[in-house]
Amino acid sequence: MRRRITVVGAGNVGATAAQEIARRDYADVVLVDIKEGLPQGKALDLNQAGPVLGYEPNLRGANDYDETADSDIVVITAGLPRRPGMSRDDLVATNEQIVGSVTREAVERSPDAILVVVSNPLDAMCHVAKDASGWPRERAVGMAGILDTARFRTFIAWETGASAKDVTAMVLGGHGDQMVPVVSATTVGGVPLRELASEERIDAMVERTRKGGGEIVELLGTSAWYAPGAAAAEMVDAIALDQKRVLPCTAYLEGEYGIDGLYIGVPVKLGASGVEAIIELDLTDEERAELSGSADAVREVVAVLGRTT
Ligand code: NAI
Ligand code: 2OP
Repeated sequence: MRRRITVVGAGNVGATAAQEIARRDYADVVLVDIKEGLPQGKALDLNQAGPVLGYEPNLRGANDYDETADSDIVVITAGLPRRPGMSRDDLVATNEQIVGSVTREAVERSPDAILVVVSNPLDAMCHVAKDASGWPRERAVGMAGILDTARFRTFIAWETGASAKDVTAMVLGGHGDQMVPVVSATTVGGVPLRELASEERIDAMVERTRKGGGEIVELLGTSAWYAPGAAAAEMVDAIALDQKRVLPCTAYLEGEYGIDGLYIGVPVKLGASGVEAIIELDLTDEERAELSGSADAVREVVAVLGRTT
């Protein structure tokens, strides 16, 4: 039997993720949205791209969750995106309600699934999904670090003139302006970044990465979707195909990195069971302090949860 992957939210990120997953052709994809016609219309359009792009017409759109039953993975992208001038944290109240309700609907029909949360503010929405599902930390994980790392890798490729494929990097911490690009672990073809670029240029790339989401919001009037959709699909691959990838994902820490009871971005081993291990990198003192600062910023948002519901 083919795997079933549900994507909740058929907006920019959800539809892009759905297409990326459909193109792999190893799963049926169910696209769910509250807006009537939207998931059905996008699923039809995506199916009709299949014969051209080389995948089977394997998507369905729905406004309820019946079609999602027994999904292996549920990707949650439902909620408002950022608009210019709006911080990720401004989204808390609205998206807490949405993510809580869609999680409850989805897990009722797919009790063995793994949740991949994308909605913002990401770290806090992972808490909402974990609480609403009642699932262990292995089965509720968030997407942000792959996107943030992809942005950092892009800037490094441009700076050094190397292929982005040969840039190895890891951006940790919360999905906010205090995220932590781990420069000490960043290499281009195995050569440490600090041997290839000045501290000033590295600082500029770190800063641009931290503000990477906002830069696109300023340009587009809404937040990014191509890279986020591709990043979510990479996580789906790792889980659905039991790839044991080590990827920066938002995971619930229980003492790792000196952080307890908080979702934050760290390297995780992602496979069929979801978060199969949390990898502890040997950070410099400065990076460790930055991660702790980022955790404080996430805690402030998490503290807002539940106040408006
Ligand atoms: P969008 O507005 O294009 O799509 C969101 C969709 O959610 C809409 O179609 C809306 O009808 C749907 N929705 C709202 N309430 C719903 C409900 N109760 N049930 C089902 N569907 C519902 O927004 P976009 O650009 O796709 O972004 C989605 C979310 O992902 C936003 O919160 C955004 O901030 C976040 N995001 C997170 C990233 C990350 O790195 N974690 C990167 C990019 C976006
Ligand atoms: C992004 O980083 C806004 O979280 C969204 O593009």
